[in-house]
Amino acid sequence: MHKVAVLVGSLRAASINLSFARALEKLAAGKLEFVYPDLSALPIYNDDLWANPPAGALALKQTVEAADAVLFVTPEFNRTIPAALSNAIFWGSRPWGKNSWAGKPASVVGTSPGGIGSAVAQSHLRSVVTVLDTVLMGQPEVYFQTKPGLIDEDFNITDPETKAFLEGYIARFTGWVARHAGDRSASVA
Ligand code: FNR
Repeated sequence: MHKVAVLVGSLRAASINLSFARALEKLAAGKLEFVYPDLSALPIYNDDLWANPPAGALALKQTVEAADAVLFVTPEFNRTIPAALSNAIFWGSRPWGKNSWAGKPASVVGTSPGGIGSAVAQSHLRSVVTVLDTVLMGQPEVYFQTKPGLIDEDFNITDPETKAFLEGYIARFTGWVARHAGDRSASVA
């Protein structure tokens, strides 16, 4: 089974993006294994810190490199990507020539309580992760509007139509990972 590093761009324990990631994990059971690097352990990116690399940064890079694929689950903060996610992306992309994201099959999803379901943040994030040399899946786009009760306490999607759509998404992503896992193009970021 292919392993997916899931980058949830919220540090909140009660994050709706974390719940959404858990719901996707449940739908992917038996197809994909999800692992969640800890983004809260990362200092704000500073090139000087490579002189004595932070354990959190090394752990992030190791987790991403050991995974077959990456799934970015982003909240939207002021119509863009949260700092925690940008920061993790910076750490993973350095030092120069050791870009941990390179060649990884990837997908971008996210959720917010708002009707556009983090679409603007996802749009920004897509332009970033292509520069990282990931192999980004373009479709289906997933702009998930979190509503009360739509994900229950066991991370089940309670609306059948929404669940069917997300099952289709997982099927596509599983196929994408199978096709591109093992690609290792040269690092450019
Ligand atoms: C938000 N939120 C938000 N929502 C949205 O749809 N578009 C936006 O631009 C913003 N901007 C924004 C800025 C800041 C600083 C915060 C804290 C929040 C609301 C956001 O979607 C909501 O708080 C989510 O619950 C955040 O995701 P997690 O932490 O629950 O995963």
